Amino acid sequence: MEVLSKFLFGILNSITSKCMVLLVTILILRALLFPSFPGFDGIEWSNLVYIRTPSLNSDFRIRQDKFLAVPQLVWGLNNQKIAFARACLTARMLNRTLLMPSLSASLFYKEIDLLQPISFDKVFQFEKFNVLCRGFVRLGRYSDVLNRTQVLEMEKGSGRRWTVERDLLQLKEHSEGPFDDYEVIQIVGKNPFLWHDHWPVKDYAKVFECLDLTDEIAKEADRVVSRIRAVGKEVLDNTEAMEQENSITSNGSSFQPLPYVAVHMRIEIDWMIHCEKLEQRLNTNQICSSKKEIMERVGNIARLKTPVVVYLAVADKLLQNSSILEGWEEGFLPFEKKRLGVDGIYKKYPYLIQSAIDYEVCLRADIFVGNSFSTFSSLIVLERTQKIITMGVTNMCGTDLKWPSYAYNIQGESNGPMRWVTNMSESIRFHVVVRNAAVENSIFRNDFLDCNWCLVNKASLNGEGRMSCLVHFDRPRRKKQGPSELFEKPNFSVPNAPSEDSN
Ligand SMILES: *[C@@H]1O[C@H](CO)[C@@H](O)[C@H](O)[C@H]1NC(C)=O
Ligand SMILES: *[C@@H]1O[C@H](CO)[C@@H](O)[C@H](O)[C@H]1NC(C)=O
Ligand SMILES: *[C@@H]1O[C@H](CO)[C@@H](O)[C@H](O)[C@H]1NC(C)=O
Ligand SMILES: *[C@@H]1O[C@H](CO)[C@@H](O)[C@H](O)[C@H]1NC(C)=O
Ligand SMILES: *[C@@H]1O[C@H](CO)[C@@H](O)[C@H](O)[C@H]1NC(C)=O
Ligand SMILES: *[C@@H]1O[C@H](CO)[C@@H](O)[C@H](O)[C@H]1NC(C)=O
Repeated sequence: MEVLSKFLFGILNSITSKCMVLLVTILILRALLFPSFPGFDGIEWSNLVYIRTPSLNSDFRIRQDKFLAVPQLVWGLNNQKIAFARACLTARMLNRTLLMPSLSASLFYKEIDLLQPISFDKVFQFEKFNVLCRGFVRLGRYSDVLNRTQVLEMEKGSGRRWTVERDLLQLKEHSEGPFDDYEVIQIVGKNPFLWHDHWPVKDYAKVFECLDLTDEIAKEADRVVSRIRAVGKEVLDNTEAMEQENSITSNGSSFQPLPYVAVHMRIEIDWMIHCEKLEQRLNTNQICSSKKEIMERVGNIARLKTPVVVYLAVADKLLQNSSILEGWEEGFLPFEKKRLGVDGIYKKYPYLIQSAIDYEVCLRADIFVGNSFSTFSSLIVLERTQKIITMGVTNMCGTDLKWPSYAYNIQGESNGPMRWVTNMSESIRFHVVVRNAAVENSIFRNDFLDCNWCLVNKASLNGEGRMSCLVHFDRPRRKKQGPSELFEKPNFSVPNAPSEDSN
């Protein structure tokens, strides 16, 4: 329990959780899944509107008279989003409608009564979710259930012997025979974030795409984004030397929104303690980044036009310390909630919704920089990648790529942060693995796009048809699927340079 609480402390105490991440590329997948939309090239990404893919498989219908109920979703926004997607995908596998789960507005995790359950539809749009995810997954209300006596409780096993296979087997069993006759299957036990994972990243991405904030919260996020852009405009107007086309997205029109960089800074003390331990365990020094390192790397983002507004997404308690606003390179204008004058917006809401607003602000940023070990950062990159794919972008290495994301904890081109996209064809291990009584995060894949190397070496290496432009963390070799692979520790050394196998 002590280990657990330490772990949770790490996860909980701030906006994001530590954890793992994934990332990578998707070029291939994009080509397979999405026809290109050449006409969209001119769209301003700063306005970030999803072009939704039409519902995938209209033949696939989710039954509306069979339901799945899951335990309350808990911890941070990122944990709850992942848990939600996993619950949806479980319901999909059982061909059942997921009864709208209860989220948690606060971060408490031990004191169950302090969890402040909050209904899903207080945060996200219920009807719209079903429209967008039609044919894929479906949400229902408890009032849709006809016969409340027809509930089958299904207990998720736990412990070391509860392997991925056993978990899968249990789900399969419950999707047929007499189990399937029950109107409601209620999963009891651990919250869905802790369940085993059986689905590819792209399925998660699909679910996330269907999540739209309620109008009220979306409006608050709009206010924050407008404020950031207004600040940027003031700055530009005051910079006489600036020529208009000096801004990334501006086409000489003063109506263009001004670009901003969002930096998800994980520098809180609890994170530092946690990540240093993690670094030791994984024998790497690329997880924790000091404030100084973050500022330096962000300052070195290639081809970034300055001046530029930098929005610092940090946990509330850090806001008192203005030192995060100091030490930025010239041309980088850092703002956090207080300096922007938007802290009043946040203060009206519980923790979960504050995070949801920050999440949105990061999602819409022209450039996002996060920590690749943070689930919060990872989810943002996942959604940004999904948007880019949906827009039909073919070259993730393009220097003019709209909406690039970076990981500041990894060194990339010209001592800047590493370019970061999500590999949608990966399966992820967002979940926590319980082993030997210790609770660990399983780290899911960290693959980074090194565009510099990519451009240089494409010709020489592409002959074999492999994706030569990726610099990977060495990963555990993927053996045949097996539970034991979940426990392998990845090798996190990153090659410094293209090195011997090029040229
Ligand atoms: C994405 O992940 C899949 C599955 O692990 C892998 O085969 C593929 O090469 C990866 N794509 C890239 C671009 O790295
Ligand atoms: C789910 O159930 C409906 C109704 O029985 C059926 O039409 C549909 O094919 C099922 N989907 C799957 C994937 O089994
Ligand atoms: C509910 O289900 C139970 C058990 O199958 C059954 O005995 C009962 O008649 C059902 N009630 C209604 C209102 O359908
Ligand atoms: C944007 O600028 C480019 C080059 O400066 C020009 O070719 C293009 O027509 C402009 N687009 C709009 C919408 O003004
Ligand atoms: C802010 O943080 C710096 C170091 O990061 C520390 O030296 C300083 O005392 C802190 N200030 C406050 C008011 O906590
Ligand atoms: C980790 O990867 C590096 C570079 O590929 C390699 O030299 C090293 O031996 C690996 N370490 C382990 C423990 O596998």
